Amino acid sequence: MDDVLLPPSDETFILFQALIQSQTGIFLPLHKKSLLQNRLAKRLLARGLSSFDDYYQMVSSRLEKRELQQALELITTNETYFFREPAHFEYLKQSLLPGVPTGRPLRIWSAAASTGEEAYSIAMLLASCFYHPWEIFASDVNETVIQQAKKGIYLNQRTSGISAEFLEKYCRKGVAEFEGFLRIIPELRGRVNFESFNLMGSVSSLGKFNIIFLRNVMIYFDKDTQRKLLRKIAKCLEPNGWLFVSHSESLHGVTDDFYLVRPSIYRLKAYQHEH
Ligand SMILES: C[S@@+](CC[C@H](N)C(=O)[O-])C[C@H]1O[C@@H](n2cnc3c(N)ncnc32)[C@H](O)[C@@H]1O
Repeated sequence: MDDVLLPPSDETFILFQALIQSQTGIFLPLHKKSLLQNRLAKRLLARGLSSFDDYYQMVSSRLEKRELQQALELITTNETYFFREPAHFEYLKQSLLPGVPTGRPLRIWSAAASTGEEAYSIAMLLASCFYHPWEIFASDVNETVIQQAKKGIYLNQRTSGISAEFLEKYCRKGVAEFEGFLRIIPELRGRVNFESFNLMGSVSSLGKFNIIFLRNVMIYFDKDTQRKLLRKIAKCLEPNGWLFVSHSESLHGVTDDFYLVRPSIYRLKAYQHEH
């Protein structure tokens, strides 16, 4: 039975663990060995390899940058929905936007945007009720999901979070081969700038944002990585800027740079900008 793929040994798993963490921040504990095995198995098959050890040698070679990117993309979890965690969008509409300074364009960053549902949800809300200039930057380490996000095409079953009013205003039903899908209208797609970006890299070229959505990504990082990332996030925020994390994430015990305004909604302490 030489076509049976054996799981990686603990030693090989630890090599992958270090590689994945250094490249993306994602920390896979040992009990996630089967996740690594299941997600990467098809790449071993595609490259004609029969052991994880050989695949590790391949992805860690400098000549196989593209293969490494593919492996890392398979490790990321990209689950997302339109208007996920509706309380955040309520807060944005009812409390945040009415008081936001309007002298300069409002800049928002969806920092782990996956296939774009979060960024388009924000865009729909702004287009419907915020009558000042605004821009949205949306990024993810996974280039494949960013390409999907740019297209703005979604299965109907995945769009139940969008209200009837927003469906009517900002989405178009697919026909012929796109039956069963809908597409975000071009006017709204053009308002969101999607780019691949690794949160482990330098943020200095991004400029300052008024609001950052960093939701459902820190859960994959260990505390030290979270702390380093939040230091960079603080540098990208305007004084008193807002940071949205998910309801299953907290900055408690990780950083003191922000204060809590609502569960999972933080603002940058103003003194951060004095130095
Ligand atoms: C579960 S999705 C969250 C999507 C959306 N923010 C939400 O809350 O619905 C997590 C995303 O984080 C991205 N991600 C993981 N590590 C990253 C990194 N180092 N830099 C940028 N994005 C990363 C993954 O590719 C994935 O698309």
